Amino acid sequence: MNADNHVHGGNVYAWARERGGTLNGVLDYSANINPLGLPASVQTAIVQSVGQVIHYPDVEAALLKTAISSYYQVDATYITAGNGAVELLYVLAHSLRPKRVLIPVPAFCEYERAARAAGADVEYVYASPEHNFALDVKSLCDYLSRVDMVFIGNPSNPTGTLLPVSQLEQLLFAARQAKVMVVMDESFMDFIIDGGKYTCRPLLKQYDNLVILHSLTKFYAIPGLRLGFALAHPRLTARLHAAKDPWNVNSLAQAAGVAALADQEYQQKSRGIINCEKDALYEGLKALPGLKPFMPSVNYILIDTSLSGYSAACLRQRLAASGILIRDCSNYPGLSPYYMRVAVKLAEQNKMLLEHLEQVLR
Ligand SMILES: Cc1ncc(COP(=O)(O)O)c(C=O)c1O
Repeated sequence: MNADNHVHGGNVYAWARERGGTLNGVLDYSANINPLGLPASVQTAIVQSVGQVIHYPDVEAALLKTAISSYYQVDATYITAGNGAVELLYVLAHSLRPKRVLIPVPAFCEYERAARAAGADVEYVYASPEHNFALDVKSLCDYLSRVDMVFIGNPSNPTGTLLPVSQLEQLLFAARQAKVMVVMDESFMDFIIDGGKYTCRPLLKQYDNLVILHSLTKFYAIPGLRLGFALAHPRLTARLHAAKDPWNVNSLAQAAGVAALADQEYQQKSRGIINCEKDALYEGLKALPGLKPFMPSVNYILIDTSLSGYSAACLRQRLAASGILIRDCSNYPGLSPYYMRVAVKLAEQNKMLLEHLEQVLR
């Protein structure tokens, strides 16, 4: 992939610019954001904190770190707060300066961009659609002698594959022997009902070659505000703090994070609805002519469109005319031009997506 021509989902502004600048009428399935939208508790916290913007934000992000520490059961000394998880990906790559990184693909493209920006070479391992893109940890371990950092999305974006902790620990163990840092991106873990089975957080004390990245922008619907964190051994955490802007997380985002993590009602409701809707949307997509959706674990679904004869770019263009945005996945290494991804939204919106897709495909 040419890292310069990366394309993300969620570019509603580009869609609006082409149509006279308004966002009215857009339904964005191209970014994987909680369809319940901004929690009321978070909105209140933001409004109540507006007066604080006359001061610099708390450099320690103390209240936010306390909230993260108690919600995710990690010592505060392991936490670095970030202006989104992606900021910390770049801080990490620039402070550790890996020479060669391993990325199982298809994968979120910022792993590669951050690694290359820090001067690293990139090696891919390809996961195959015949195996539902499942990662083979054993074969991954064979590459460890050639690299000094490996990136794993768990759950992975765009495929939604999930690995249990037992398998990931095998990788962490082999990586530690080989002196390889493992960057585990758990940015979508909050969407998973039994996320405790999959998170590597309990392994942080044992493995100082583990960094966990976690976004709060997807689950709490605040991608425009930006908030995330990294978890790592205190030695590495100190390096990340030394390498980042001291005021990287603004006051509104800090207050939003504290309110979000306290909002159990929103958390439970979100997981309940999304879990139910993802299965319904999967069934609906499977029933459409020529589409092969992959079984989702999380709030997005990867779809092979090849049997329909329509490339993802073509479907994207046709749906965009009606204000429906989907993710054309053709720029993911390891995917053909016949892969697209859609976010799971509320029942009514998912129905609308299925109706529009059906009109194009029939
Ligand atoms: C796997 C993955 N990690 C991280 C991010 C970005 O998170 P943030 O908005 O917190 O920077 C994304 C965004 O699409 C993602 O897909």
